[in-house]
Parts: sequence; C-alpha cells; structure tokens
Amino acid sequence: MKILLIGSGGREHALALSLSKSKSCGQLFAAPGNPGIFELAVKADIDINNHHSVVEFCRKESIELVVIGPEQPLADGLSDVLTGTGFTVFGPSKYCSQLESSKDFSKRIMQTNNIPTASYKSFTASEFESVHNYIDSIALPIVLKADGLAAGKGVVIAADYDTAHNAVDSMFGGEFGQAGSRVLIEEFMTGQEASVFVITDGLDYLVFPPSQDHKRIGDGDTGKNTGGMGAYAPAELVTNEIMNKVESRIIQPLLKAMSDSGNPYRGCLYVGLMIENDNPKVVEFNVRFGDPETQAVLPLIKGDLAKLFYTAAIGYIEKDAVSIDSNLHSVCVVLASGGYPDSFEKGYEIHFPENLSENEIIFQAGTTEKDGNTLNSGGRVLGATAIADSLENAIDSAYKLAAQISFQNMYYRKDIGKKGIVKTN
Ligand code: AMP
Ligand code: GLY
Repeated sequence: MKILLIGSGGREHALALSLSKSKSCGQLFAAPGNPGIFELAVKADIDINNHHSVVEFCRKESIELVVIGPEQPLADGLSDVLTGTGFTVFGPSKYCSQLESSKDFSKRIMQTNNIPTASYKSFTASEFESVHNYIDSIALPIVLKADGLAAGKGVVIAADYDTAHNAVDSMFGGEFGQAGSRVLIEEFMTGQEASVFVITDGLDYLVFPPSQDHKRIGDGDTGKNTGGMGAYAPAELVTNEIMNKVESRIIQPLLKAMSDSGNPYRGCLYVGLMIENDNPKVVEFNVRFGDPETQAVLPLIKGDLAKLFYTAAIGYIEKDAVSIDSNLHSVCVVLASGGYPDSFEKGYEIHFPENLSENEIIFQAGTTEKDGNTLNSGGRVLGATAIADSLENAIDSAYKLAAQISFQNMYYRKDIGKKGIVKTN
C-alpha cells in the first residue's frame, strides 16, 4: 500500500516509524515532513494548505491511504476533499473535527449526550456585558477558553477576577483572531490528567494505552504552558476500572452521537481526561494524536499500524492488525531550544549519539538539514525516547539517551515520568 503522511512534528516522526515498519506499507511519502521523517519516507513536494495539490499528488502516485497528523488540515476539511475525490483517509471530516476546532461544539455534544465534563457557559463578543457580570457572579478559579484553534494557547486559568476580565477582553480584542470571537467560561476541575487515544471506524474502536503529558516548561509542573515537554505510557493512574468508565461514559456515547448525526468519526480521537476519585471527566477532545504522547504510546504497539488505520478509514476496523505489549513502558523526554515557549535561537548544530539500541529512539520535531548537518529550527526539537520493562527503567534510559545528545542552549525537564512512579507505588 502507498501511504501519504501529512505533518512535520515529533508525532508524525513516530507515525512514520510505525507506518514504515508495517507489513502492509509498501511506500511511504510525507509532507511537509522533517529530516527524521525523511529517513523513513519520500518527500512529497506539495503544499498541504493547497488541497488541490494534495489531490493531484495522490492521483499521480496512486496513494491508497492518507494519514493526517495535525489538527489544522483536518479543521480545514482536507479529509473531506480527499474522500470526496475517492481517496481513503485516516483523519476525521471537517464536521467531526469541530470537536477540537470549536470548544462550544464539543461542549454541546457532551452536554446533549450526558458525557461528564466541566459545566460551562459560552458568550460571543456582543454579549460583552453579560460575560463580565457572569464572571463577577462565579467562584474562583475561573477557566476561560477561546472557542477556536489557538495552538494550545487559548486557555487561561484565572485565580483572580482581574485576570479573568482581562483574559476575556484580550480574547474578544483579537488576541487569537477568529478563534476568540466566542469565549467559554468553565468550571475549574481538580484531579490528575491523562490522555487516551481511540482508533475508530465510526462505531467500533480500539483504545491505545493511556499516557500522561507534561505541559509546563519547568520541573514539578511549574512555569509556562508548552506544547508538551514529555510523556510516558502506560499511565497506570488510568486503572482498568477507570478505563471501563471512559469507554462507557465517554467514548461509546460520543461515537454513537457522531454516527447518529450522519457523521461517523473515523480516525484517532484524543480524549483529554481529568480524573478525581476514580471518576473521569473530559477536559477536551482532540481530533488527532497528541504530541508528545504519540512518541511514548506508539512504541508499545506492535504489528501493522498501516492496516489498522486503513481498515478504520474504510469503516471496518481490524483491531487484531496490532497488539499492545502490556509488559513494556515508554518515556519520551522533549529536548527543547532554550527560551521556548518564548523566543529562542535557531540554527545550532545537533550532535547525536553514534549508535542507538533497539530500545532507544530519537524522534525529530523542530529540526532542519543544512550542508549535511541537522540544526534546531523549532521550540521542541527532539524527543529522546526509551522503552523498558518498567517505568523506572524507561525513565533512566530516556535520560541516559538525552545526555548523549547536545546542541547549544538545549533544555529539558528532569522529571518526566516521575508522576507515574509516585502513583503506582
Ligand atoms: P485544553 O486546551 O482545553 O486542553 O486546556 C489546556 C489545559 O488547561 C488542560 O490540559 C488543563 O490542564 C487545563 N484545563 C482546561 N480546562 C480545565 C478545567 N475546566 N479545569 C481545570 N483545568 C483545565
Ligand atoms: N499533548 C497535547 C496535545 O497534543 O494536544
């Protein structure tokens, strides 16, 4: 099977690795890709924002499966354009992608189907006065969210009223463009967060091992929010009992609601959870794999991922195309450019270790190639990933691997995975 993978981050490098190892993958193409991905895939010379050029490429190369990694092309309707021209796509339709591209849409679906989540109210800019009155009437802390896609930056947790009022003003004032033309105010939830990936054909589904991201820049979950500084899997705080609740209270009603609306959800559904007293609630849905959770989760999945995706995409998922190795643990430590998530310097040469064991993987994200050297070009540069028979050993190996990699101003958290150990002991 000829496959085209869309995306260029660490998540897509992990997808590229698992797809390229799949029995049913004949040839793998990627766009826009990155130097790590191009060790596994052929560069497709297309502009992914130009849907016509993607369709033309698929025609020319007789692509049999398109896998879409990031949310933006999904929200832009790339999946619909490709399926409309006869191609098979792993990645939901524009309608289903509203689960991520509109938090209001997502909340309404949850409310209608009694899916547990924080209570909320939504306001448009014309309801300027009522939103400020509403803020004054509720208890702190207050969670404020821009409705649309804001690259993970559209959420403010306000510990005082001034911060809450100011956040609304800047969202309506255009800080996130159109994404902030509607603002949601949510109840603040406490508990532990975890991420669950669901691979689905619309009704039937397979759940991958749960994982935990580390969103803050500093050790001990301090400092600014980032795209994610590391992850581990499986996250054992999601016990079997909790996972059963996640399936019966969240995944099954959501998939049924989408299917009943005539829009079956096909692809990967990311369920962001808050868990307290063994009760899972939804923080957010994403319509794609998470980054960096994918880099930790996919190394635990054996078998033919390409076949799993293809069969999900055509509506008849073959779950036994893959198996989950439940004895393994995986940790991905993100190596970032110093200064991230604020400004940082680019163009420094990255030095890699000469040999990797089969339990070590270096995923590339913000990298570029120049004169045969690999340079940092983004905030999150690499994911040093290790697989082992225990979480402790996986943490140890991932940090040993990270210590063998260097570039100027390289920064990483020193406590990735630690939360998992505290919880399991
Ligand atoms: P989101 O983009 O919706 O995932 O929000 C980003 C982060 O904000 C989440 O990972 C949580 O840590 C936090 N968050 C979002 N909504 C809530 C909420 N209602 N209560 C507590 N924390 C939240
Ligand atoms: N790691 C969080 C996300 O991918 O949205």
